Amino acid sequence: MNKTLTTDFGYQTIPINEKKSRVEAVFQSVADKYDLMNDLMSLGLHRLWKKFAVELAQLRKGDNVLDVAGGTGDLVKVMAEHVGSQGRAILLDINAAMLNIGRDRLLDRGLTEVSVIQANAEFLPFVEASFDCLSIAFGLRNVTNKERALASMYRILKPGGRLIVLEFSKPLLGFLQNLYDCYSFDFLPKLGAWIVNDEASYRYLVESIRRHPDQKTLQKLILSSGFDDCEYYNLSGGIVALHRAWKF
Ligand SMILES: C[S@@+](CC[C@H](N)C(=O)[O-])C[C@H]1O[C@@H](n2cnc3c(N)ncnc32)[C@H](O)[C@@H]1O
Repeated sequence: MNKTLTTDFGYQTIPINEKKSRVEAVFQSVADKYDLMNDLMSLGLHRLWKKFAVELAQLRKGDNVLDVAGGTGDLVKVMAEHVGSQGRAILLDINAAMLNIGRDRLLDRGLTEVSVIQANAEFLPFVEASFDCLSIAFGLRNVTNKERALASMYRILKPGGRLIVLEFSKPLLGFLQNLYDCYSFDFLPKLGAWIVNDEASYRYLVESIRRHPDQKTLQKLILSSGFDDCEYYNLSGGIVALHRAWKF
């Protein structure tokens, strides 16, 4: 029997080999207004979530750091300053449109030494044990095979290195969930239609958040990928969670 393997794309079920191109089309479409939309959708809160992520990364001068699915470079631009010229910071994403904007922003900030690499998080093109720190912010839920991406990250992390995963998660309080549902399903796609002229991409973003594993499930997934000591922090009442794990 010829059974096609399927996966989720927001609330749709699609053949697994289509997800990568469907996600690419979303970020191709939203790239120009991505940063503006982030500020509008989160009322600027994403800046605080990302600031906390960089703090928990505990970077030192000379560290090698890779921001996976780094998009327009919000994390890497701060991380690069922490590791300094003795270290190495790399921005990696699968999408050329997002990376072009990221590279321009890095150059505008004078961060000419940050490398920009187009690659798939599931097949990271680095030798084993290359990095002191890996981060992935709001990227994991868009990856087709999360287990493969986590295994790929584990492979290139040095022993003693840490992984930072920042991602939308499950709100802790029931009333917050209802409020958040109204905001996400009623308001955000309309905002996407108004600002980017693309309601469907923002509907996907909202749905993909709901499909993403909750705090504890993601913690288990990270641990089962080989990482140790995975702890998580709820941000903004669990709307976002930051998981930090180590490779011992
Ligand atoms: C919501 S954006 C997050 C961008 C950035 N990390 C931030 O926090 O603003 C998700 C990013 O994941 C990237 N992405 C999706 N699937 C990917 C994959 N398989 N490998 C690498 N990047 C991927 C997209 O191209 C997009 O830039």
